[in-house]
Amino acid sequence: MKPLGLLLVVLLAIIGVYGVDRNNFKSCDQSGFCKRLRPFKPEKSQYTLNLDSVIVHGNVLSAEVTTVNTETEKKITLWRYALKLSALVDGTFRIELDEADPLYPRYRTQLALNGEPKADGLKLISNENGKLTLSNNQGQKVLITSEPLKFEFLDKNGDVAVVLNENSQLLVEPLRVRKERTDDEDPGNAENAIEVEEEGTWSENFKSHHDSKPRGNEAVSVDVTFPDADQVYGIPEHTDKFALSTTTSGEPYRMYNLDVFEYELDSRMAIYGAVPVLYAHGSKRTVGVFWHNSAETWVDVVNYADGTVVSSLVNLVTGGQKRRVDARFMSESGIVDLFVMLGNTPADVFRQYTTLTGVAPLPPKFSLGYHQSRWNYVDEADVRSVDENFDAHDIPADVIWLDIEYTDRKKYFTWDLEKFAHPAEMVANLTAKGRRLVVIIDPHIKREAGYFVHEDAMEQGLYVKDKDGNVYEGWCWPGSSSYLDFFNPAATKYYAERFRFENFPGTSKDVHIWNDMNEPSVFNGPEITMPKDCRHYKPPQDGHDGLASFWEHRHVHNEYGLWQIRATHLGMLERSDNKYRPFILTRSTFAGTQRYAAMWTGDNAAEWGFLQASTRMCLSLAAAGISFCGSDVGGFFKYPEPELMTRWYQAGAYQAFFRAHSHIETKRREPWLYEASTTALLRDAVRRRYALVDFWYTLFYEHTLDGTPVTRPLFQEYPKEEDTYTIDDEYLLGDKLLVRPVLEPGVKSVKVYLPGRDTNTLWYDVDSYQAHKANGYFTQEVNIAKIPVYQRGGSIVPRKERVRRSSTLMANDPFTFVVALDANNTASGSLYIDDGETYDYQNNKYVYSKISYEPNRMSYTLVNPAAQYSTRAWVERIVIAGIRNPPKSARLLQGDRSSALQMTLHRGNDVLVIRKPAASVATDWTIEFAY
Ligand code: GLC
Repeated sequence: MKPLGLLLVVLLAIIGVYGVDRNNFKSCDQSGFCKRLRPFKPEKSQYTLNLDSVIVHGNVLSAEVTTVNTETEKKITLWRYALKLSALVDGTFRIELDEADPLYPRYRTQLALNGEPKADGLKLISNENGKLTLSNNQGQKVLITSEPLKFEFLDKNGDVAVVLNENSQLLVEPLRVRKERTDDEDPGNAENAIEVEEEGTWSENFKSHHDSKPRGNEAVSVDVTFPDADQVYGIPEHTDKFALSTTTSGEPYRMYNLDVFEYELDSRMAIYGAVPVLYAHGSKRTVGVFWHNSAETWVDVVNYADGTVVSSLVNLVTGGQKRRVDARFMSESGIVDLFVMLGNTPADVFRQYTTLTGVAPLPPKFSLGYHQSRWNYVDEADVRSVDENFDAHDIPADVIWLDIEYTDRKKYFTWDLEKFAHPAEMVANLTAKGRRLVVIIDPHIKREAGYFVHEDAMEQGLYVKDKDGNVYEGWCWPGSSSYLDFFNPAATKYYAERFRFENFPGTSKDVHIWNDMNEPSVFNGPEITMPKDCRHYKPPQDGHDGLASFWEHRHVHNEYGLWQIRATHLGMLERSDNKYRPFILTRSTFAGTQRYAAMWTGDNAAEWGFLQASTRMCLSLAAAGISFCGSDVGGFFKYPEPELMTRWYQAGAYQAFFRAHSHIETKRREPWLYEASTTALLRDAVRRRYALVDFWYTLFYEHTLDGTPVTRPLFQEYPKEEDTYTIDDEYLLGDKLLVRPVLEPGVKSVKVYLPGRDTNTLWYDVDSYQAHKANGYFTQEVNIAKIPVYQRGGSIVPRKERVRRSSTLMANDPFTFVVALDANNTASGSLYIDDGETYDYQNNKYVYSKISYEPNRMSYTLVNPAAQYSTRAWVERIVIAGIRNPPKSARLLQGDRSSALQMTLHRGNDVLVIRKPAASVATDWTIEFAY
């Protein structure tokens, strides 16, 4: 965008004209390969597996696949492909289909996987009648039909769970040499026939942008069928519903990381992130596929149960069976590389995905507290006053954020020394209260003579190049900018070194990093991003010349941001000699982002629709491995009225990443700037968060162990309850708390779905301990202070009730354990504690305990007795809700200590409170009850 254009959009935003300019972004028809591939649905797939070529070795089947020209009398082999099918641990298979002998290597996405996936065994059981049958060690099978090529994946019961190429849409467009046609060539000749190119093969235009497409068409596609599925989920980031919709009558879902100004709601348009994992769920099973591709991707979905699918088609395809979903991935380049995850429960399949792409590492604890941001806190005095106001208004906060204006005219790794003359003192002032600072570092670098990063990058060749091999120049916040090419190890190394404390004066271990605009955003680029024919670094190798010597931006686009956060992560580790855990926030996301950063949903607006969208967007991201998700609380654009602000704080308090942020042109809105009654409600919401920081921390620790989402869709825990399949305004924290934030204006009640009817589950209102029997929907009355949150009967939740200025200052504060009893009068929970910021926990410096309650005893037991952490925290109260037969006496046994405990009964005698048991949380203990 030109500066004038930018000014205009900013002005429009200020005067309140909100809305995306769709013209800036491609529809499927405007994206060459999507237009070309979408109608491609041959009666019969041209792809055939050559049965004679099959070799099974270790966990891999390799074979040759060919396409034939069936239009001529004699079948002519057109192209040869190399197929690889690998069996991986934990019920996952991988299919790779590449050209057997491509003109030059096709791009294989590099960073999404958390290392090489681990192998399972693979056995060829039979090879007869044109079909191969294979099995992994767990008894899951793959049937491969050779002609036309088709893959069927069978679950352990022998039922078909996933089918590839059922709809004949498998496609790998081969790379070709561009030939100039001369008039004397014979177009009837097969060799020349393929040279009759469609328009757009060797270049495309969008608005005023030209894409030179030096490699020509190189798209890939595959269709996936999910028999018995009721719904499919995943492929974030979109503002659409969590359960994906049938796309037949509109646009496919698009995945292409873009900085969409004023993005729209309920849309399948691409925005900042792209995580190409798709899950299918029904009462029979849950499965998933991960499309390992970083190029622009479109996904079509057809849900046969959806009213929009013509019933004759349903009958034709499914034989009247309505449970089936078809999906289809189409990408502009790369190879076909698909992971099939056979579940078969939702938790299994979510775990299978994080087994491939990694779990989120344990975050520093402060990052689970409340974050206060604004574009911008203008100077040191402003930061000081914001910091002090939190104390003056008794609102805890862990982090203050600085947006782009802290820099010397948008030069990252510098400070505006007029406004921030003493950054080290400013940081010390925050850390004295246990608070931290986060500063922004974007990937665009200001092209200014004398700016060291720019000069070094020019000199050392660290920038992305344009199509002709010159340094690419685009327009972003600093004006004319170039972009670090993180694919180049030298650029990553150089950039990572900038984070050293000596290279970024004023920073310390308590200054963390925000990577924004990393789609990357280019204001004057096509679709506000980098031209696809820009060039990225490729390691030198044989035949390293011409088109083989670089990757085009088109190949890597969706993973560009991942390369940046990886480099940031590296730099932050190195700056502290690997001692402290980094906190990074990213806007662009891809598969694997969770290994490095938290994310937020970008530039939303102070509108109820965006508050609603934040819940379902984060649910979808969490299922796609990225649990550490939040939205700009209060909305980025526009100004939230008190009710919306209140409801957003209340919702944000129960989302993993809890940060208020706002646009530079909006009215200031720190919590104390509202009327006292609203400030009190915001305070209450933030305090509720702080009471649960240890619970969140424990959930994140447990995520590192089992890889399942921290914030969960209801169907993860209640997979047979069909009503849960489409619920996305309500979710679970772990398997213990159910959250249904109020997301609508002016309501006196909300409908809350309480799952677990079949297992007689009880849900306790966390405010009153009133128990509700799970029975589907019930009506919860709400006033403006009410946040509908319920604790599952059978769970124990650790809380801290003495709220201080920051989570760090609460480290040694005592716990309250809330025990919510199930129908059998039992409950269990867990607690994780460590120093909150270092990696010492990897050397057994932590406490992880299982807590269990039975009518006769309650016990607190370290899971790994070799792991110790000397915390002074202790248990000051145990609340047992739902008690029917209260004990007469209780006695604590810890080490040599044995003491009688005081108890009181409350609320119609169904809540028992044990006062001051004073048990330490550093070692095991037991409470024995007598009746
Ligand atoms: C982008 C970010 C926003 C930030 C602004 C200035 O719009 O999404 O959060 O405040 O850039 O850095």
